[in-house]
Amino acid sequence: MPNQDPEYQSCIQSSERVSWRIDDLLPKDTVLDFSRRFLSDELTGTESIRCLNAEEKLMLNQIRSNSYAHMFLFLEEYAVALASHRAGLELHGNSTHMRALLRFSEEEIKHQQLFSRYTSAFARGFKVVPSLLDNQVQVAKAIMTKSNLGVLIFNLHMELMTQQHYIETVRGNDREALDPLFCNMLKHHWLEEAQHTRLDFLEAQKIIAQAPETMDAAMAEYAELLQALRATLNAQLQLDLQTFEKAAERTFTEAERKEIFEAQERSYIWSFIGMGMKAPLFLSRLRSLSPMAEQRVLELAPTYYCN
Ligand SMILES: [Fe+2]
Ligand SMILES: [Fe+2]
Repeated sequence: MPNQDPEYQSCIQSSERVSWRIDDLLPKDTVLDFSRRFLSDELTGTESIRCLNAEEKLMLNQIRSNSYAHMFLFLEEYAVALASHRAGLELHGNSTHMRALLRFSEEEIKHQQLFSRYTSAFARGFKVVPSLLDNQVQVAKAIMTKSNLGVLIFNLHMELMTQQHYIETVRGNDREALDPLFCNMLKHHWLEEAQHTRLDFLEAQKIIAQAPETMDAAMAEYAELLQALRATLNAQLQLDLQTFEKAAERTFTEAERKEIFEAQERSYIWSFIGMGMKAPLFLSRLRSLSPMAEQRVLELAPTYYCN
């Protein structure tokens, strides 16, 4: 196993260089501008819904964007548990590794506070107060019953997915006039996530070096976690549609409801699961951990609209 210290050291240096404060990104009294899309349509899939008018499509885009910010609360709740646990394992051990992992935990808590400040600002300014899932602690505890390696691989997927979202749909997107405040928030999230993806990989390497036989079970856990995530996304989607119906002040017919639900389900699964699975860096990272792991992801991909 090569010496990993320079890599951990480099993560600390990058993290120090890009670090930001919540108050600079999103001051407490921020008033959101509801005249624009927050997320790209590539992530919200509202434009292709035929039964909605332009105003309704924008409203649904904004509800989805708010839920997107909120979903990070879920994805970061277990990430804090994971990174803190991995940091604790280095207590009285390698202080460079421990410091990098503690920064990882601290940044994830900061991200949670940023996104939760955002959803509060959204609730103050939007037509109705959106319904959001609130079982992130329960979900995090369930995720953490899996092996560290399984959760690290799931987290690598999630963090590279965040990178993919920013690179493919925010940075250099001149097709859509997106809300600059939301874009800036995603940019700063992306800047810190970049180090997390490296740490997930380094920690996974550490485990595999000691126990290579655990990789099979970890990949089975990764597949289970994706299924559980799908159920959580669907639960949030049901709430999004309730919020939408209230905000649009319109009762949809069964056929309309079906069209909206199917488009949104597809969009949620593709954004959070498909896009992560097809992220080139996710596949190449897995391949270098174990060729079987990459193969397993490629086999699962069609289940998540990803061929
Ligand atoms: Fe984060
Ligand atoms: Fe992260």
